[in-house]
Amino acid sequence: MKAAVVTAFGAGPRCREFALPGSFGPDERVVDVVAAGLHPRVRSQADGSHYTSTDVLPMVPGIDGVGRTADGTLRYFILPDTTLGSMAEQTVIDIRRSIELPAGADPVQVAAAMNPAMSSWIALRRRIDLRPGLSVLVMGATGNAGRLAIQVARVLGAGRVIAAGRGADRLAGLGADQVVALDGEPRAVQGELGEAAKEVDVVLDYLWGQPTHDGLSAIVPRRSDDSRPLTWVQIGSVAGPEAAIPSAALRATRLQLVGSGQGSVSTREIVAELVELATAVTSQAFTIGARAVPLIDVEQAWADTTSADRIVITPNG
Ligand SMILES: NC(=O)c1ccc[n+]([C@@H]2O[C@H](COP(=O)([O-])OP(=O)(O)OC[C@H]3O[C@@H](n4cnc5c(N)ncnc54)[C@H](OP(=O)(O)O)[C@@H]3O)[C@@H](O)[C@H]2O)c1
Repeated sequence: MKAAVVTAFGAGPRCREFALPGSFGPDERVVDVVAAGLHPRVRSQADGSHYTSTDVLPMVPGIDGVGRTADGTLRYFILPDTTLGSMAEQTVIDIRRSIELPAGADPVQVAAAMNPAMSSWIALRRRIDLRPGLSVLVMGATGNAGRLAIQVARVLGAGRVIAAGRGADRLAGLGADQVVALDGEPRAVQGELGEAAKEVDVVLDYLWGQPTHDGLSAIVPRRSDDSRPLTWVQIGSVAGPEAAIPSAALRATRLQLVGSGQGSVSTREIVAELVELATAVTSQAFTIGARAVPLIDVEQAWADTTSADRIVITPNG
């Protein structure tokens, strides 16, 4: 069968032949892949830099997708760490890590939205004490996951939502109550972010690196009630893998730093959220830009790192 195949870390995949395994476990099924999202996590899987990387080559990238089973059912699946990912005409899913999609589901939209939407959905449902009316700051709100985090927070009952990211023009129209552009003069940005977010309950952080240090330094000293919990959820690290955490921030307020991702949330917990999330995606509770690309063009799609829309590979499209 045809698949996107990575033969060297650092080089993107090429469309070529790849063999399905010869034997399967009792819960495994072969599916025809209909749509597979090219998420940042897929890029880090394919260049060997993700913390779950197995370092085994050749490999087919793709961590999730929509597939058709032998009986014609469309299922959304998440894959274990495997060398046979979802960017192939067929892949092998564990039926227990998949759900049947609701009638009318658009496979490309589902494949585009589930991974970025899950990042905030799981963080809010599984990593914090989610109470209606919570005030939420999204750090890194212009990416697919950040844009969806604003919408997911609303659907899950957040009160005020503040969006921080680069590009005032891109922040406008995302549906937040207030926006803070992070790419201005640093002192002015800190003042604006600190004032806007000083009373938030939860931060969904896709940035890490310097913006996290600066955000903590701006927000913590401005809080009016130091006994009120501030839960800072580490989700992505597009601005840097490490952040300097000011020690005073941890002493001065009831700051809790937690992470949300594969490992800190178990596969069982993630799977338990899939039906509700897929139902929300299918009922168009969220807006996401998606661009379908045939498998044969995976090499060119991979080279496009500037697309605001989520690229979705469609092996059987
Ligand atoms: N833990 C989880 O469960 C989970 C799940 C899904 C995703 N994630 C992670 O979340 C992150 C975002 O994913 P995504 O799907 O939204 O990616 P994406 O669609 O590629 O968006 C990335 C965004 O980050 C912005 N950005 C990059 N560097 C920045 C900086 N220094 N300051 C401010 N903004 C910056 C980019 O804005 P510009 O256009 O200005 O460059 C872009 O809007 C990734 O690290 C991903 O791995 C985590």
